[in-house]
Amino acid sequence: MTTWITICDTCKREGWEATGMERTDGESLAALIEALADGPVATRRVSCTMGCERACNIVVQAAGKIGYSLGRFAPTAEDAAAIVAYARLHAASQTGLVPFRDWPQGVKGHFVSRQIPLPQT
Ligand code: FES
Repeated sequence: MTTWITICDTCKREGWEATGMERTDGESLAALIEALADGPVATRRVSCTMGCERACNIVVQAAGKIGYSLGRFAPTAEDAAAIVAYARLHAASQTGLVPFRDWPQGVKGHFVSRQIPLPQT
């Protein structure tokens, strides 16, 4: 089953104005994540997930599984790699629950909320 990484492409971190403003921080992070994601991990971009003060934000989801919102990422190769590595573990999990001991170091401290899957009715 595909795990989706939804990336906010309008996120701007503090100090973004000093970067030249050619791309938002979210666009930069999205490009890095998209370059790494394949197989059971897919990506999509959205504009704003309402976590603006915690930029950069992403959401990890799969149908019928626990989903997670994460924030406070930087548009770096290290953060992108941690996000994709976590999404691969989420994809391999039956429920979306990845044991803490398996979390990539780079996602620790970035979790914002958990979304419980809807009942199957
Ligand atoms: S601009 Fe990214 S969450 Fe609002």
